Amino acid sequence: MWPDLIKKAKDGGLNAIETYVFWNAHEPLRRQYDFSGNHDLIRFIQTVKDEGLYAILRIGPYVCAEWNYGGFPVWLHNMPGIEMRTANNVFMNEMQNFTSLIVDMMKKESLFASQGGPIILAQIENEYGNVISSYGDVGKAYINWCASMAKSLDIGVPWIMCQEDDAPEPMLNTCNGYYCDQFTPNNPNTPKIWTENWTGWFKNWGGLDPKRTAEDVAFAVARFYQNGGSLQNYYMYHGGTNFGRTAGGPYITTTYDYDAPLNEYGSLNQPKYGHLTQLHNILRSMERTLTYGNVTSTDYGNSVYGTVYSIDNTSSCFFGNANVTTDATVNYQGVDFNVPAWSVSILPDCKTEVYNTARVNIQTNLMVKESNQAEEEPASLKWSWRPEINLEQTLVQGKGQVSTSMIVDQKVTNDVSDYLWYMTSLNVDKDDPIWTDDMSIRVNATGHILHAYVNGEYVDSQWATYGIFNYVFEKKVKLNPGKNQITLLSATVGLQNYGPKFDVIQSGISGPVEIIGRKGDETIIKDLSLHKWSYKTGLHGLDNKIYNSDSKFSAQWNTDNLPLNKMLTWYKTTFKAPLGEDPVALDMQGLGKGLAWVNGNSIGRYWPSYMAQEDGCSTEACDYRGSYYSSKCDTNCGQPTQRWYHVPRSFIQDGVNELVLFEEFGGNPTLVNFQTLRVGTACGSAYENKDMELSCQGRPISAIKFASFGDVQGTCGSYYKGTCASQNDALSIIQNACVGKETCTVSASESTFGTADCAEDISKRLIVEAVC
Ligand code: GAL
Repeated sequence: MWPDLIKKAKDGGLNAIETYVFWNAHEPLRRQYDFSGNHDLIRFIQTVKDEGLYAILRIGPYVCAEWNYGGFPVWLHNMPGIEMRTANNVFMNEMQNFTSLIVDMMKKESLFASQGGPIILAQIENEYGNVISSYGDVGKAYINWCASMAKSLDIGVPWIMCQEDDAPEPMLNTCNGYYCDQFTPNNPNTPKIWTENWTGWFKNWGGLDPKRTAEDVAFAVARFYQNGGSLQNYYMYHGGTNFGRTAGGPYITTTYDYDAPLNEYGSLNQPKYGHLTQLHNILRSMERTLTYGNVTSTDYGNSVYGTVYSIDNTSSCFFGNANVTTDATVNYQGVDFNVPAWSVSILPDCKTEVYNTARVNIQTNLMVKESNQAEEEPASLKWSWRPEINLEQTLVQGKGQVSTSMIVDQKVTNDVSDYLWYMTSLNVDKDDPIWTDDMSIRVNATGHILHAYVNGEYVDSQWATYGIFNYVFEKKVKLNPGKNQITLLSATVGLQNYGPKFDVIQSGISGPVEIIGRKGDETIIKDLSLHKWSYKTGLHGLDNKIYNSDSKFSAQWNTDNLPLNKMLTWYKTTFKAPLGEDPVALDMQGLGKGLAWVNGNSIGRYWPSYMAQEDGCSTEACDYRGSYYSSKCDTNCGQPTQRWYHVPRSFIQDGVNELVLFEEFGGNPTLVNFQTLRVGTACGSAYENKDMELSCQGRPISAIKFASFGDVQGTCGSYYKGTCASQNDALSIIQNACVGKETCTVSASESTFGTADCAEDISKRLIVEAVC
């Protein structure tokens, strides 16, 4: 997808692509590197270069990013004597080793701008300023070391440190946030740089779908440049998908859509994409005045500011209104300009307003999902299945790979799998004081999911809800006189990626693990924590990669008696490639939680049975005015947190394809089906004297449902005429101009639509709703 995404970014008016570098992806085992396939960082930077764009390389190598363990390989945690992100020699040595490796690779290919390449900036560490206080004085020593280590690598372009107020020279400190117009770098010679302009937010299991309006993002960007900004980067412009086990957390979803201008599937998120494209093009047209001009600012009161950049006889103006509710009129050189609340107007020549962040002249797209046209799904998907391999060994025999007399943190396994089996046995006789009819097992766990078995029998499961990752599991059990096998399967759902000393936060079963006997008022507790515990990492099916068609277990699938709602079960089916080129989603309704592969490619963790919270969604249209916060305009209340999963076309081949699921909780695969995504409805919008451009993005416009020029109310999908509308029949004008075409352009003017007798304070708009 890289070339297409990068091209769309360029078409969107960007001139640089910023990326993190993920240490755990590139050095999965110590000193064993992986830069193949999707990990080919050089190819990525080359692709950026081939599009004629600059690159910003955020090496970190701590990156946060809702990425597993913030990008740290977990083997690092298990190095003797290590303390991460502080002045610790073991850590610093590893960090330096990886950072220099990346720098050397880039240098070898001449990718730094100093060598004629595209990389104009590189980043060391990530938002250390947010956590430095928890590291005491050593934190400062560490950040000084980061600076001198980075400097010594001599890359010929500046290094940045984001959210690092006391960044040591020559590091440039930069800002991350929803708004950075008020940010001032610590050094007066440092340009004002915004490394992360959050275009929306990420999602966690149980959480809602965040939404940040196009108007508000544009407002933030315009204000940043009005107030002397030099460079801003969207986080994310395209967030995509956390394939495999890359999602961090805990509990970050597989989708990382972020409500970004390019959505998870790489399609245009309109109107955000287009509204920002226009802004970029206008800002870039003002490059000379913005970069060389003298600045004068005027405070018009009530949060209204004017800024003029001028050089020679040219000047460019910004009028910003940060008032949340009151529109403003700015009089500049005898002319009145209306500036709506929470908006910025841009006048590249200080005479004509060409852009206002609150007036969107871009269509809104409503996407639809269509069933796979290549076959009748879900009926045509024939499922085969098999239980997880060799469960006997863990559930009954308690056979592990290693054993020790304590309960260990799940990170000791270097995080090679989500799964770790904790197994012990207990001898008890009927005359043991604990022996009663009322015995329970109690497990203290730190996450994230626990399945308990006694003597091969399933007891119960428990999982943490988002945000509360410590819990106590307690269930009644029946023990046998003599030896009893206790098997606990722990599953993690993304390791912590943020916070002070996030790396030492426990995962898995923390203990104690106890057997409790209750006799009347008396409670007797047997602590099993210091028993001999055997451990087995992962699952046999995963170890043997039975999701690959060439696995030695590939023949051992059953076609009869498909089990439903059965834990630890593998399912397999084949499907035909969906016709056309539209992006593909896998609808996982009916399933519990697990992992999925298409032709051996992991499409990530799925968990459609985890419902998003019931409340927090508003029925009112989202108001772009006022400061954004991550839950401001949330949607998807009470629905599965994530029902659809992106299957890149590059994972799918012509002809027959294979889908394999590992169902951990138990679910019903018979409703699973593939769908394609396309624009279903396109709602064109243009203020008076602007052009309304409409496109079904590669398909003909099939019908026009609504068109009106005047004071239109409502939102895309439910527009209606307001207090005034033009005389001519807008609907037939648009039908004639647009139906049957892939794109059409109509001027939103009275000369096209006739007079619309609207009150003076109404900004007339042409609004069209088209069926694609
Ligand atoms: C920032 C961090 C990013 C990402 C973002 C939230 O604090 O630098 O890596 O985690 O928050 O999406």
